[in-house]
Amino acid sequence: QQTLLYLIPVAYLVGSVPFGLIVGKMRGIDVRTAGSGNIGATNVGRLLGAKYFALVFVLDMLKGLGPMVAAGGVLGFVANDSLTYLLWLAVGFTAILGHMFSVFLKFKGGKGVATSAGVVLGLFPYFTLPAATALAIWGALFGRTKIVSLASIAAAIAFPLVYLGFAIAGDWHPFGEQLPLLLFSLLMAAMIVLRHRTNISRLRAGTEHRFGKIKPTTN
Ligand code: G3P
Repeated sequence: QQTLLYLIPVAYLVGSVPFGLIVGKMRGIDVRTAGSGNIGATNVGRLLGAKYFALVFVLDMLKGLGPMVAAGGVLGFVANDSLTYLLWLAVGFTAILGHMFSVFLKFKGGKGVATSAGVVLGLFPYFTLPAATALAIWGALFGRTKIVSLASIAAAIAFPLVYLGFAIAGDWHPFGEQLPLLLFSLLMAAMIVLRHRTNISRLRAGTEHRFGKIKPTTN
């Protein structure tokens, strides 16, 4: 448990590394002042193309996956009580917080979708069914609308609901790992939705970007 406590601030620092901004700068663009202004993979892809979307998505995902795997390794990938689960989840949570409120960007940052996906992956196999469902929802909505934010928001909202549904339909024993996992998934979804506030305004106004490369000007 003590090692996990040390890993929490490390995860925050790892999560804070703004890969989207770094990759953009390396290509001569400040992604904070172009496109949606977000430092995430979607905006980098919008400005620099699909190859850079993939690069930033993977790097941002690793910021979540890496600390979770490190923490899981310390535990032997099994936690015996709720407190240990909470500490393990706190490592992932602070990695996501780092991405959203980066210490290197005066506590500004991204929307946390890729980093959250990495954290969820690092918790394999706990979230397999809700993650697969959320991914399917993301794919269906994106396929239909070509709007990444809409697909991300819907997938984020579905994730904890599906987790709860499967837990109740299966073997609901909240006082092991299930209650910490449910609380974590709710918190993660709420943070992702809140970070999409400007997207939600654009969606309501009918002005949200559809997927596709644009010239690097602010919108
Ligand atoms: O993961 C972020 C995505 O859902 C929206 O990105 O650049 O369109 O605000 P963006």
